[in-house]
Amino acid sequence: MSRAPDHHDAFARTLHWLMAVLILAMLFVGVAMVSSITLRPALLALHRPIGIALLVLAIVRLVHRLFRRLPALPDDLPAWQRLAAHASHWALYALMLAMPLVGWGMVSAAGNPVVPWGDVHLPAIAAHDPALYSVLRSAHAWLARALLAVILLHLSAALYHAWVRRDGVFRSMAPVPLGRAVDADETAVDADETDRDMKAENAV
Ligand code: HEM
Ligand code: HEM
Repeated sequence: MSRAPDHHDAFARTLHWLMAVLILAMLFVGVAMVSSITLRPALLALHRPIGIALLVLAIVRLVHRLFRRLPALPDDLPAWQRLAAHASHWALYALMLAMPLVGWGMVSAAGNPVVPWGDVHLPAIAAHDPALYSVLRSAHAWLARALLAVILLHLSAALYHAWVRRDGVFRSMAPVPLGRAVDADETAVDADETDRDMKAENAV
């Protein structure tokens, strides 16, 4: 069997960083939207189309992930960190799908038309029902908090790999190619070679 790739492919990396920017913007837009009456209409007009676009991108990304080979995690990564990495990635996928679906369901339950842009009218995915609206409304807010918490954990883990372990995991998802990782064995070989060259020079 061929070796696992050492980085995520260009399509996965593009989707990862595009969606990261849009999701973070959506969290801030959402909070600003519910805190300001004057800004609310303009922000809502931004929130709905980006939210629906994120749902489409999350489905495309999930399908792409299921059919591609992923870079392997480093062999020496402790089992609990391996488990945490897989669990947090699946939690992020679940939340990337749940957030827009709950948002769409909430607008449907409020009895409002779901018009992400122009003449595009999406069908209602929930019955017009004030009690259901109230449940979905608080679910949307709680899921947003959970999403922010998992993103912060994910960010900390990514920086731990980049700055502390320096094990190529960050490089595998870097937005632009960062060159090849130099591992400890290679550094030892380089040091041996330099040592040998210096001895040879001194001998001359
Ligand atoms: C990844 C996608 C999404 C994220 C991250 C997100 C995030 C948020 C956040 C953080 C809030 C403020 C919650 C609060 O503190 O009370 C919010 C509110 C809201 N969201 Fe979303 N949202 C997303 C998708 C959607 C979609 C697709 C729709 C509708 C089609 C939608 C409709 C709304 C509405 C109407 C509110 C305001 C509710 C109110 O004030 O009553 N959201 N969203
Ligand atoms: C909204 C923000 C983010 C979301 C939703 C997100 C989501 C994900 C997901 C689902 C994966 C698994 C690979 C895949 O299927 O694409 C992943 C991998 C990764 N992410 Fe993020 N990410 C976010 C932000 C960030 C940030 C800010 C960084 C770094 C500073 C980062 C660094 C990484 C790295 C290094 C990997 C590769 C991990 C591995 O292969 O095991 N991510 N991300």
